Amino acid sequence: MKTHIFPDYPQLCQRVAKNVIDCVNAKPHALICIAGGDTPLGVFAALVEAQKQGRVDFSRTQFLGLDEWLGLGKDDKGSCREMVWQHFFDKLTLRGEQICFFDGLTANPQAECQRVDRYIEQHGPIDCIVLGIGMNGHIGFNEPGASLDNTCHVVDLDSVTQAVSVKYFDTPREVKQGISLGLKTILAAKNIVVMASGENKAAIVAQTVNHPASTDIPSTLMKTAQQANLYLDEVAASAL
Ligand code: F6R
Repeated sequence: MKTHIFPDYPQLCQRVAKNVIDCVNAKPHALICIAGGDTPLGVFAALVEAQKQGRVDFSRTQFLGLDEWLGLGKDDKGSCREMVWQHFFDKLTLRGEQICFFDGLTANPQAECQRVDRYIEQHGPIDCIVLGIGMNGHIGFNEPGASLDNTCHVVDLDSVTQAVSVKYFDTPREVKQGISLGLKTILAAKNIVVMASGENKAAIVAQTVNHPASTDIPSTLMKTAQQANLYLDEVAASAL
């Protein structure tokens, strides 16, 4: 996994967006997966702008959700669905059949995992995946200790993830479980982009780079992929 450092967040996002644009321009019906959370917000904006300017056409692209908090849906501010739709899908003119996203309100999470696994079997492998890094090194909701054999699965969220989650919600929410693509599916992606921004990510970024690949820190596992790049702004790279 090669590390690339950019002076600031906007330049970082432009570069990550370029990866997605290049992928879609080479393969218009590509399967793209972009994390929710704060890190990719600038990438969403750059991609929306690129489509407006005619530099990319997402009309044949398939989009796959990475993960979701169990119990939260589109009307819950801070859910992955709410964030990704608000900042990205609502701003592109996508058809419903272009999107496969976990339903966090499902009454049957196992069946929801099977539904998304079936979709990936039909449309996968993922052509380009853009990932953030959790404060504990999680990737999607693959928490420390996650199995490398996992496809879609229900996760008991780590205490760090539960504590960090308050930043997304405007009212206190009890999030104890998530639903996520597994490490097996993520590592099978043809092009993996891991991105991190800001001072609070400097320590986990340094661990990701310096620690041997291990399920103890899932972000280190991205180093084992065929094609993975780590994109950072200078502050996130400050402990390297
Ligand atoms: C979100 C996701 C998480 C985040 C990670 C970083 O869909 O999969 O793994 O990417 O927790 O979150 P932010 O970007 O908010 O710092």
